[in-house]
Amino acid sequence: MYEFTSPFQQPSGSPIRELFKYLGEPGMISFAGGYPASDLFDVEGLSLAAERASANAVQCLQYGPTDGLATLKREIIGLMARRGAACEAEEVMATTGSQQGLDLLLRVLVEPGDAVLTEEPAYPATLQAFRLQRAKIVAVPADAQGIQVDKLASLLESGACGKPKLLYTVPTFANPTGATLATERRRALLALAVKHRFVVVEDDPYGDLRFAGAPLRSLLAEAQAIDGARDWVVHFASLSKIVAPGLRVGWMAGPREIVRRCVIAKQTVDLCSSPWTQAVAAEYLAAGALEQHLPKITAAYGVKCAALCAALREQLGEAIEFAQPEGGMFVWARLPGIDAADLLARAIGQKVMFVPGKAFFADAAAADKAALRLSFAAPDVEAIKEGARRMKRAYEAGL
Ligand SMILES: Cc1ncc(COP(=O)(O)O)c(C=O)c1O
Repeated sequence: MYEFTSPFQQPSGSPIRELFKYLGEPGMISFAGGYPASDLFDVEGLSLAAERASANAVQCLQYGPTDGLATLKREIIGLMARRGAACEAEEVMATTGSQQGLDLLLRVLVEPGDAVLTEEPAYPATLQAFRLQRAKIVAVPADAQGIQVDKLASLLESGACGKPKLLYTVPTFANPTGATLATERRRALLALAVKHRFVVVEDDPYGDLRFAGAPLRSLLAEAQAIDGARDWVVHFASLSKIVAPGLRVGWMAGPREIVRRCVIAKQTVDLCSSPWTQAVAAEYLAAGALEQHLPKITAAYGVKCAALCAALREQLGEAIEFAQPEGGMFVWARLPGIDAADLLARAIGQKVMFVPGKAFFADAAAADKAALRLSFAAPDVEAIKEGARRMKRAYEAGL
């Protein structure tokens, strides 16, 4: 009856959000969503920040600048500098979650039919955004050290993907694999971006959540040392995983010509992100509360990650393969010989959930069916152990 635009004629929603309906079932243990632990939210610190923000209520109840409240931008620039990436005000904009930044960037850079590169497995909301933009998705495989840059180089040299507009990656504690891109690969990737003139989209919501190993510089920070590379990196970051996703505070840092256009794109999307939550976030950051909060959550996630990895080994032994991540929220596992979608149906019967690997592949037909993503962030350690026992029962029921 309605003449919908082509991406919306037969749309499919997020496969992860489809699972939400089971979350409310009594007794369900979920390894599914990328939800931070709500009992670790710094409610006190945020309440104090909100109190301080309300002292200037008139400012934050009014519409704000599209690129973000000046006070928040100042804090973001300070935070980025502490993370090793100096940015000018014109190179930064606040967004309604980093997810919005990706959407704006695609509006600005990608025409229907344009080739876009992505690591694979990849964050599903990015794949969905690419599809809605009618981009031609070209997947580059990732392993335990992140995107395989040698394969990317051969692909680019072969000309098989045409001239891609951009490459999407989560180089630090990836969603879904938990993998971190090794420094040599970071440098090689940036060199390829300069040579082949494509934008590297660095999505970095998890980089601060390191509980083991030595920190690495972001692609944005690394780009400062490579001639011309800063012109080709757009970096997304967010308070969602390190403070609270309900704030919907994220940001973009990149070349000013790109940021300026994203600000114009945002004008028609939401005029501005909520000045109220931006002001709360600015007060929170200005008080140094993030620096105090981060060690608490990283320690807790380190314990949970170790608990999940130990419980999976204990319950599933040789049947399960995975690499233990050094940070983030996810364990990417394989159960060779098993279809994880079938396993999920049995697992829901046992009251445990995870995300089958298929959701993270550009072409579901070419997906690794044996793969699954488990998030250890939200459940407590007892629930993690019980969840692994239930996983074993669901696994054995299918043998
Ligand atoms: C890789 C990645 N990028 C972006 C997002 C969205 O973050 P935000 O809440 O800042 O929009 C998520 C959330 O799960 C994510 O995992």
